[in-house]
Amino acid sequence: SLDSYHVSEEYGFILPAPLDELPPYYQPWMDIALRVPELVHSHELRSYVNKMPLLKSEFLQKHRELRLAHLALGTMTMGYVWQEGETGKCFFLSLLMGDNTVLPRTLAVPYWEVSQRLGLPPILTHADAVLANWKKKDPDGNVEMLLCLPGGESARGFLMVTLLVEQAAIPALRNIPTVINGVRRRDPEAVAEALEVITRSIQDMTAALKLMHEYVEPSVFYGIMRIFLSGWKDNPNMPNGLIYEGVQTQPMQYSGGSAAQSSLLHCFDELLGVKHEENSSSFLIRMRDYMPPAHKKLIQDISLQPSLRSFVQQQASEALTQSFHLCVTKLLALRSYHINVVSRFITVPAARARQLRNQSQDSEDGGVISRAPTALEERGTGGSGIMTFLKTVRDHTKEALLSET
Ligand code: ALA
Repeated sequence: SLDSYHVSEEYGFILPAPLDELPPYYQPWMDIALRVPELVHSHELRSYVNKMPLLKSEFLQKHRELRLAHLALGTMTMGYVWQEGETGKCFFLSLLMGDNTVLPRTLAVPYWEVSQRLGLPPILTHADAVLANWKKKDPDGNVEMLLCLPGGESARGFLMVTLLVEQAAIPALRNIPTVINGVRRRDPEAVAEALEVITRSIQDMTAALKLMHEYVEPSVFYGIMRIFLSGWKDNPNMPNGLIYEGVQTQPMQYSGGSAAQSSLLHCFDELLGVKHEENSSSFLIRMRDYMPPAHKKLIQDISLQPSLRSFVQQQASEALTQSFHLCVTKLLALRSYHINVVSRFITVPAARARQLRNQSQDSEDGGVISRAPTALEERGTGGSGIMTFLKTVRDHTKEALLSET
């Protein structure tokens, strides 16, 4: 059952009812975490974090306490590392430690311990910023984000729309076991029916993703938000990684946030038999280490099931073939739409930023856009060569389609 993978019938991969407060002992963390956007803006976050007491993580007990702690420490970490922009190293620490960014022990030590206990890396992930970062705003079930990164309404909108995509996928997740059991029992009707639910659910994910255009301003996303989602692996700004003071003297490398950290498409790919090209596949597989271990286990267990695709071929039922075909087609459409979103929010502003750099002239939108990190022009915040990656992944999705018989 899905429960054993920490996936709920009602919430899917979303953490049900996240806590919005930690035990009072941890108030110093929450006081800062809640103010990250404001303190980054005033360039005070680093000094607040440097003055923070070193707290013991052992009083955190329940899973949901650990998840909120991971989210809060991660939000502070992103703000701390990127407060001064892409090349903004802390001057005095650079003198002492060489050209490395250092996360102070008051943050690094508890963050490391909490990460170990959860099986998550010590960097902000999709599981933190989206899955564990929401609360009910009113009895009607409207939700709001708990913590936020710089970028105001657009930052909130970005996280919220991503959460809505996860929400739209819940019926699909519920039906994955139905498909698997149907294949085992060799019941083409049950499989076809479950695939139709999955197909509708994937369509709803695309519809939810469209809201990005409504809630997120491209220049704010590109110029302000992206750097705070980016990490210290495959990032020319921090080639060695980040030193987690008090944890290890050598710097460590971790990738920034990426849609590839959502377990959803991994599950669909394994279910439908989508096989990715070598480079994209190794990135995708590495991103599974940025998911809660139980979710990663679900993906792996789906991949071990008897092949749905072979079952569809063997049955040669027109209705079943048709529902399988439609399901892959809608997954393909979701990926094509994602490419469309990335061109509006990354490719177009990146071209504009280059143009402004070459002309070196001021303009209305130039202010925000030209301050964007150049290291992220061609790369996703997770470190992939974003457009090539997404197009290769899309093209390999096409190959899962069964040729018409
Ligand atoms: N991965 C997304 C980006 O590259 C968030 O900006």
